[in-house]
Amino acid sequence: MVNEATLEINQAATLPELQEIRVKYLGKKGLLTAELKTLANLTPDEKRIKGAALNILKNELETLFDAREAGLKDAALTARLSSEALDVTLPGTRFQTGGFHLLTRIIDDLATIYKALGYQVVQGQEVETELYNFDALNIPSWHPARDLWDTFWLTDGRLLRTHTSPMQARFMQAFAPPFKIVVPGKTYRFEAVDATHESMFHQLEGLAVSDDITMSDLKGTLEEMAKGLFGERTKIRFQPSYYPFTEPSADFAVYWENPRTGTSKWLELGGSGMVHPRVFEEVCKLRGDTVYAGKRGFAFGLGIERVAMIKYGVPDIRYFFQNDLRVLQQFRGELE
Ligand code: DAH
Repeated sequence: MVNEATLEINQAATLPELQEIRVKYLGKKGLLTAELKTLANLTPDEKRIKGAALNILKNELETLFDAREAGLKDAALTARLSSEALDVTLPGTRFQTGGFHLLTRIIDDLATIYKALGYQVVQGQEVETELYNFDALNIPSWHPARDLWDTFWLTDGRLLRTHTSPMQARFMQAFAPPFKIVVPGKTYRFEAVDATHESMFHQLEGLAVSDDITMSDLKGTLEEMAKGLFGERTKIRFQPSYYPFTEPSADFAVYWENPRTGTSKWLELGGSGMVHPRVFEEVCKLRGDTVYAGKRGFAFGLGIERVAMIKYGVPDIRYFFQNDLRVLQQFRGELE
């Protein structure tokens, strides 16, 4: 029986098979169990001899079963480990990384440039009142300049701001001079949408107020900005203009060398000027004091989309807002 059993045990290929063989020999109705049961019919002497022999046999078989079981478990584990093993040489799955929208990057660039010049970056609100969007900026309701800033009106009489300029009045109402701020943000116009007009776009407003600021400070500041955006060789040009909240007013253009085409031209970027004394008067009224009486300041405003379109050759403003990944991925600033 030993030889037979040993052979069977060693040939068992799986744990269930081995269990079957164990039952066959050592189970309640097993072969060895049956032998042990026959002891009852023997004489005491025979019982002692055969009993001892059968016990040895039983122990031997049990040792064999245990050893085989351990061997099979080991093999199963090894097989599982190798089937689940990680092949570190396989190419990994590339994660889709996010990125910053081109307009966000330009706003960040502008913020960096102005922070280096000692400016604070502040933000205003997109839903404005007529008071801040127009009246405090010297644009009374009868003023024809309001036509330039047609916008969306809420039913309660408020409106979506047409420019970031309302923050000039809001900031001066809340803080005393001297200060220098830039205000990036969304602005709205009731526009017929085309390649260069959107009903929502972004602006950057600037305002610096102290006792003795001059127009040459304004020009120097805008020149620094232009160089930061378009490179050291950029020039800036003023052109007389009109805005109700500045006097004198000037539109400014940058002379930009396009590195891709090698061509240079003047490109209009925004409006600017010296803060109109009436704006300071309106602000003093809102504050109920005279801290802005006799102050001087300059202000400017520019379109962010325009900077992006010039710098990156984006031909249509609508591309910024269609969420077409083919457009967005070209200008993706990787997240750090
Ligand atoms: N708010 C003007 C606009 O949206 C731009 C502008 C012009 C802002 C002159 C200024 C400025 O601060 O001084 O058309």
